[in-house]
Amino acid sequence: MGIGGNDWVLMKTARAPSNIAVIKYWGKRDEKLILPINSSISVTLDYLFATTTVAVSPSFTSNRLWLNGKEVSMESERYKNCLQQIRSRATDVVDEKTGLVVKKEAWKDLYVHVSSRNNFPTAAGLASSAAGFACLVYALAHLMGAKETYEGEFSAIARLGSGSACRSLYGGFVKWNMGKEDSGSDSIATQIVEKDHWKDLVIIIAVVSSRQKETSSTAGMQTSVKTSPLLHHRAKAIVPKRIEQMEEAILNRDFPAFSKLTCADSNQFHATCLDTSPPIFYMNDTSRRLIGLVEKWNAQEGTPQAAYTFDAGPNAVLFAPNNEVAKSLLQRILYLFPPAADADISKYVIGDQSIMELAGIKTTQDIESLPTPIEWSGFDVPRTKGELGYLICSRPGQGAVVLDESAHLLDGATGFPA
Ligand code: DP6
Repeated sequence: MGIGGNDWVLMKTARAPSNIAVIKYWGKRDEKLILPINSSISVTLDYLFATTTVAVSPSFTSNRLWLNGKEVSMESERYKNCLQQIRSRATDVVDEKTGLVVKKEAWKDLYVHVSSRNNFPTAAGLASSAAGFACLVYALAHLMGAKETYEGEFSAIARLGSGSACRSLYGGFVKWNMGKEDSGSDSIATQIVEKDHWKDLVIIIAVVSSRQKETSSTAGMQTSVKTSPLLHHRAKAIVPKRIEQMEEAILNRDFPAFSKLTCADSNQFHATCLDTSPPIFYMNDTSRRLIGLVEKWNAQEGTPQAAYTFDAGPNAVLFAPNNEVAKSLLQRILYLFPPAADADISKYVIGDQSIMELAGIKTTQDIESLPTPIEWSGFDVPRTKGELGYLICSRPGQGAVVLDESAHLLDGATGFPA
């Protein structure tokens, strides 16, 4: 095996998480470099992630990409920009196992094969581009021995794939600084705190079945930038202060402040969508019922028990400050949104087992025996079975990591999907 022959394949596999913004990114000041009009903050999720294998071989004749097993084009600017940026930072790489050497100059002539999978159903409408691009950039950087010339440089490269991807390289809570430079070199993600800083925080994603096709984030925010005065007011006059307040709430694990800011920012983001011409609607009636559940509960208790946020779709991401409140939140959701009569509860509530166990519900019948919550009677919410698709339980998670060869998604000998 040698660099002269065609008989070698070199590959790396990485895993990168999804993230959910609690202060939203919506709107670009530069479409090509994906530079935002405001900074944003997200929490990294520990259950939803992408796994990506990247391979090079002199036998490859073009760049190829398989997403969840299906081949898609790698010709879009976003893929090309990420690949080109990592390639230009490549170094001499020695394969520990075989002693194969790939010289710095050789990388630009080698085509890549990429296979990427999400561990969550793409049909659920959960953002997968953030985890996907973060994972691609991280895996390529490790394959090609690329080094950051300044801290956060890889996040600036992931940003070229999808804005929110820059936040998925890091764990815990992450801030994407909008930056000032035209080059985008300072529009990078930085970690605010690592995942264990607020390890009691519970995150429950309510996957709301949606039949209508939604406007993509990229297209939606373009129209908002062009037509929504509220969006520009928000970016200039509201978000800068909210970013400071949110950072403080996170550092102090101040759930009431976190909840108020998270809900207010989600609602304002959706208000800018309504302020867009033509208006964009991402939330549906089920989304609004979930908002009602949290708002009424918070009002009854006099202090925030839970929080909600919605991205460019109807799915809710709900937060509880600790296990005790999460138990009550999960029971309330299950009571008000029971699964279809024939549903298997182990498929209705998935993800972090420890959170599922809190609710103490093992069968669909158990939901019916939950004590009827008298104090919820004011909700006046119809209990429609099967209104929610399913629930995913999560906590703050870690950032991107390299996996060992047992995780490879491409065949070690051929570099094609196995
Ligand atoms: C509502 O990062 O998907 O999820 O940069 O065009 O790829 P592009 O958009 P994308 O937008 C995410 C928007 C959001 C809010 C957020 O994640 O901050």
